[in-house]
Amino acid sequence: MIPQKTVQEILETAKIEDVIQDFVNLRRRGVNMIGLCPFHNEKTPSFTVSPAKNIFKCFGCGKAGDPAKFIMEHEHLSYPDALRYLARRYRIEIQEIEMTPEAVAQQQAEESLYILNEFARQFYQDQLFETDMGKSIGLSYFKGRGFREDTIRKFGLGYAPNEYEAFVKKATQAGYKLDFLKKLGLASQYDKDFFRNRVMFTIYNLSGKPIAFAGRIMEKDAKAPKYINSPETEIYVKNKVLYGAFHAKTAIRKADECILVEGYTDVISLHQAGIENVVASSGTSLTEGQIALIKRFTPNIKILYDGDSAGVKAALRGLDMVLEQDMNVRVVLIPDGDDPDSYLQKVGATAFQAFIDEQAKDFILFKTNLLLAETKGDPVRKAGLVRDIVDSISRVPDPFKRSFYVKECARVMELEEEVLISETNKAVRQILQKRDDARRKKPEVRVNIVPEGGDGEFPTEAPPDFQDFVPVGEPPSKRTAGHEFQERDIARILVEAGGKIYDEKENLTVAEFVLGNIEDVLEDFDNEAYKLIAKEAMQLVLDKQPINTQYFIGHSDQIISELAVDLLHSPWEYSPGWAERELYLSSQKMPEENFNKDSLSALLQFKLRKIIRLGEKNQLLLKAVPSDDPSQLMRLMKVQMKLNEMRNELMKQVGMVVLK
Ligand code: UTP
Ligand code: MN
Repeated sequence: MIPQKTVQEILETAKIEDVIQDFVNLRRRGVNMIGLCPFHNEKTPSFTVSPAKNIFKCFGCGKAGDPAKFIMEHEHLSYPDALRYLARRYRIEIQEIEMTPEAVAQQQAEESLYILNEFARQFYQDQLFETDMGKSIGLSYFKGRGFREDTIRKFGLGYAPNEYEAFVKKATQAGYKLDFLKKLGLASQYDKDFFRNRVMFTIYNLSGKPIAFAGRIMEKDAKAPKYINSPETEIYVKNKVLYGAFHAKTAIRKADECILVEGYTDVISLHQAGIENVVASSGTSLTEGQIALIKRFTPNIKILYDGDSAGVKAALRGLDMVLEQDMNVRVVLIPDGDDPDSYLQKVGATAFQAFIDEQAKDFILFKTNLLLAETKGDPVRKAGLVRDIVDSISRVPDPFKRSFYVKECARVMELEEEVLISETNKAVRQILQKRDDARRKKPEVRVNIVPEGGDGEFPTEAPPDFQDFVPVGEPPSKRTAGHEFQERDIARILVEAGGKIYDEKENLTVAEFVLGNIEDVLEDFDNEAYKLIAKEAMQLVLDKQPINTQYFIGHSDQIISELAVDLLHSPWEYSPGWAERELYLSSQKMPEENFNKDSLSALLQFKLRKIIRLGEKNQLLLKAVPSDDPSQLMRLMKVQMKLNEMRNELMKQVGMVVLK
């Protein structure tokens, strides 16, 4: 079972246009994208994708929905499996859970934290808008800063009165337990209000639920800290939260850029001015978790630093991390003494927008210039600078970008390009070596399509019948057709390259390799013709007869000979899937010369399909388990987990073949 949190994360992350473009060619038309519908036959495109709304709709056949829906339909997956697919695509880790009573309790506990926070948000808002003190102190403070009422409501701003027990009383009267109030940091350890005489900022998670608060002191130059913040809880993990992300995510996607500022008020102010793709890292330097969050929406970050920011240089160090993620980072220094909020108020939205567009500098070049100015020609310091810059450049994964930086930075630092090239290459090699070492440590996992019995987790006999899943006699549906591609591919490999040597050392032919891996499911081919080929090849292997293309083409059985010709004639058609498409684009050899990789890929895809189908089948069994049979339920759950594991492993392997 996928934790609810992860489900949310997946749904928030998946971009409809990415997901669909793995299968369908799309081109822009206005704000939308269009292409040929993969669900019905058409010559003129009526399949429409809306990146802004994150949905697709076909005006021909009526199919419509979000990314998960598309994957369910297109890949014939159940809802949870479609989510898993998306999670994989976006590298979101799923920690599968079985809903034990404890897990249910945990989820309920979290739910109650949200509910209490929502109660608090409402309380602070009411204080702001409905009480005399709130209006005269809090609301006038916000208005004095130029925040409109709709903005104030949108961002959940509020007012915490200057009293000791206003909130605690109200919340306990409403039935909330003091323990929970303390846990969320709404009450102090002495059972008093934690936030007092401050204007309040609600911090939301990506789905718009309140997870924490920040309270800002209103007087200038106060002794107390300017902001106080809620403590970390299960629902508020600071280094994974970006302030404003919920309100910004659609705009970030649309603009394909995320603007990062330092303060809460900067976020609100820019948003109000129509620059909505903006978030803040809340006073800390950017963390890996926050970068990962941004990367799910866009690879482009524009960082606005306060004009008085003493910490720019320190912040620059932390940004190397972002480079490693292959993100494009540009930085803008807001003029002296201002932060984005105050500068925007000063010059107005249009001038502000123009300013940040013009001033945005590539991060590495910005850093080079900034640090160079400081060396003041001192050769020792300059040597240090070179090391620093080389370190940044070498983290950029894209070699083209790296060589661009090398050129530019050499020019700026007045260095021989060769020096910088050789230094950078050294550093890159070190990074690659480290990665390689790390990879080597991971054990390999072998995958068998039919799990070996005997460990008690699996039925020892053959897995639940493949074939009755697609009822015999039913006209070939899209579902069958989808599955047949893998079978066709296996047949094609056997005909085309069955006799070639797959592994010299083992003296193994392609046919022996492929068939050896699927002999246990030979009977379970959906397509009788492909099954015929596979069994024919199997017979040859068993009889130790040579296998060659001519054998099939010249076969006395007309079905086999015709099919063999057909298989050989359409080498490009057999690869409709995302994986193969990339495979042939990325390999220099033609597929027929590349039979080793080709057959491995075909085999993996075939297995993957079968596993996915087994999983679906098992899901049906799971649903049908009577509620009074927990042991049966447990057994099937275990089978499901095992199947999921195998499927994930296969997906990984498919991915590796493609990437090699
Ligand atoms: P700033 O001092 O720039 O605050 O700190 P600001 O949000 O721009 O506020 P105004 O415009 O002066 O009212 C930047 C961020 O650092 C964190 C907050 O997240 C703040 O938004 N911070 C700052 C704290 O958490 N605590 C502090 O005491 C100060
Ligand atoms: Mn500020």
